[in-house]
Amino acid sequence: MAEPPAALNSGHAIEFAPGVHWIGALDPTLRTFDIILKTANGTSYNAYLIRGSEGVAIVDTVKASFSEDFFARLESVASYDEVKVIVLNHLEPDHSGALPELMRRAPNAKLYISTRATSMLKALLKPDGERFDYTTVGTGDTVSLGDRTLRFLHTPFLHWPDTQCTYLEEQGVLFSGDVFGCHYCDARLFNDKVGDFRFSFDYYYAHIMRPFKQWVLEALAIIEPLKLNMIAPTHGPILRDRPRRYVAHYRELSSSSLAGRISDDERSLIIFYMSSYGNTARMAEAIATGAEQVEGVRVSLYDLEGGEVEPFVDLIEEADALLFGSPTINGDAVKPVWDLLSSLAVLNLVGKLGGAFGSYGWSGEAVRMIEDRMRGLKMRVPLKGVRVKLIPSDEELAVCDTFGREFALELTGQRAGGKVVDMADLA
Ligand code: FEO
Repeated sequence: MAEPPAALNSGHAIEFAPGVHWIGALDPTLRTFDIILKTANGTSYNAYLIRGSEGVAIVDTVKASFSEDFFARLESVASYDEVKVIVLNHLEPDHSGALPELMRRAPNAKLYISTRATSMLKALLKPDGERFDYTTVGTGDTVSLGDRTLRFLHTPFLHWPDTQCTYLEEQGVLFSGDVFGCHYCDARLFNDKVGDFRFSFDYYYAHIMRPFKQWVLEALAIIEPLKLNMIAPTHGPILRDRPRRYVAHYRELSSSSLAGRISDDERSLIIFYMSSYGNTARMAEAIATGAEQVEGVRVSLYDLEGGEVEPFVDLIEEADALLFGSPTINGDAVKPVWDLLSSLAVLNLVGKLGGAFGSYGWSGEAVRMIEDRMRGLKMRVPLKGVRVKLIPSDEELAVCDTFGREFALELTGQRAGGKVVDMADLA
């Protein structure tokens, strides 16, 4: 093994390209990151040091509790007086934790952050009275280290608004921040040496990058033309073996997971429901029948009792509109509905059409709660959902049919603004 783990434990930097060093920290015992992300073998906080003929640059730091490792590695290859440039690609605390102390120790350094990072710098680090002058940079801006040049790429929302990438031009190394990273801790550091981390890579993408697919595609448009010898992310293995594979994989992951739209001239409406006594199911069927009357709408009906959440998430991402049906039990929507709704945080649903319906016994809160959740996901809820007390009558099923038709008309831009009567309001 070219880079023995012992070297990592001894506080030494690891040089992986001429003058380019890993000075990060390993966190092998971490099992949950940012509350929601699981990791079976920890993570790493990757930070880098680049030595040029006219000074040293540090790209990113580490979580505060790992500062000792970071500074020991930095000191093994450079003195603080040599540090002229500090780049923070992303200010989340796992990368900015050691920044205040680094600024104190490196009096000659200038800090470079993205234009969107300013408010976060102030909010996160509260630099009251400290030396915290900085320069904001965007795509095309460069900083010279003499024989080395750092070029900045504006890549926001990957995964915070402040994120950027930094490209070492002469050596083709992309310091990518969270992009192309993963929570996978392995002291062997490099993608051609570590264990099989494909699952971690895709899992990380699915939870961190997927909600920002559009931003990923915009970032890829800037990254793909670069000559790429290595990608050095802030978490997980350094991608020195065929780095373009990972870029191509990101493009694949960010493209539609299903085979494009169902049809160029059709809009997709998916109706999910759960039903305990068949009442909400009958409402779902009536709503589907109503929606199907509208040309240009493809309606799909799914009973959540018979499905797993994961494939539905892909389907929802591609759909134009969603309706959820749930009975009200103990003043709430039922768990399978919440399970699916809570898994939608990994998607960008902004502007999709949403609605809800359901049968209830005496209070009927589920429909409004689902509508609120949809609004929270920035979906548009154009119609007040239909609620039916217990068993739907023929008249109430007719209202469901009208609701489905009106919803489909809204989806195709043909709705004149007709009101759908909520039977619960008449009770
Ligand atoms: Fe690794 Fe978004 O911080």
